[in-house]
Amino acid sequence: MDLQLTGKTALVTGASRGIGLAIVRALVAEGMTVIGAARTTSAELAESGARAVVADLSTPDGPADLVRSVLDEHGDIDVLVNNVGGGELSELRPFFGYDDKQWAQIFDLNFFAAVRTSQAAIDSVVRTRGLVVNISSIGARVPQDAPAPYTTAKAALNVFGKAMAEEYGGQGVRVATVSPGPTRTSLWTDPDGFGGAVAAAQGVSHDELLAGLAAASGIPSGELVEPEQVASFVAYLASPLAASMTGHDYVVDGGAVKTA
Ligand SMILES: NC(=O)c1ccc[n+]([C@@H]2O[C@H](COP(=O)([O-])OP(=O)(O)OC[C@H]3O[C@@H](n4cnc5c(N)ncnc54)[C@H](OP(=O)(O)O)[C@@H]3O)[C@@H](O)[C@H]2O)c1
Repeated sequence: MDLQLTGKTALVTGASRGIGLAIVRALVAEGMTVIGAARTTSAELAESGARAVVADLSTPDGPADLVRSVLDEHGDIDVLVNNVGGGELSELRPFFGYDDKQWAQIFDLNFFAAVRTSQAAIDSVVRTRGLVVNISSIGARVPQDAPAPYTTAKAALNVFGKAMAEEYGGQGVRVATVSPGPTRTSLWTDPDGFGGAVAAAQGVSHDELLAGLAAASGIPSGELVEPEQVASFVAYLASPLAASMTGHDYVVDGGAVKTA
């Protein structure tokens, strides 16, 4: 299937590994000019065919500085993928164990980074009649399995995307949310990251946690979501073939969420 993306330009945040890197690779494979941003440039991003840009999206000015440099060097943006998220979740706390500063840090990365990047890019995306994709999480729908600041920020992101789709739909802009279920990335596979912290909290080894994670999350096949499976859906959304797909939260979760 020709997704009709050749020659178009995409900006992907959180692009050095995981879901962001997979999205970069999928869009490059479709012939797009892709700019991938992260705080560090991985070898995989450098070899992906994308242009790697170093940026900290958690700061108030980071998103606008990034977008300005992309517009200066590459022109207008057809597809913006606000993928950056997660963050310093390696220390699990009780429900009310996060102080204001920690709530703010998690919101900066999982909510405000997308708001600020979208705000900086919107005039350009209006010119291209383009697409904004926000990578959220099924945690916005099933919030009990992850830290409340994270799932609450993702729920806010879902509403932001819905509102933005309404606001800019008349100008030809589509805005979609994509919510992965548990996906095989460093967020889970790094023993020093979130996955390691969850294993410690459950009193199981990290390997045992990973082996049982999909089933424990309600995925009938028992298989984790792979980053490439999220990425191929984002590539389809980016296509003019998906012109009617906007405003919704599209779940890619192996069937983990049981409600319609
Ligand atoms: N994995 C899952 O199970 C899962 C499930 C649902 C939703 N999600 C969502 O999917 C998205 C990607 O998650 P992932 O699992 O692929 O995460 P990941 O493997 O931890 O990758 C995160 C990416 O974001 C970059 N990043 C982190 N902080 C940044 C900052 N301040 N500024 C710029 N870049 C930054 C990282 O690179 P640097 O460290 O070099 O900056 C890396 O490229 C997130 O929004 C996450 O919430 C993931």
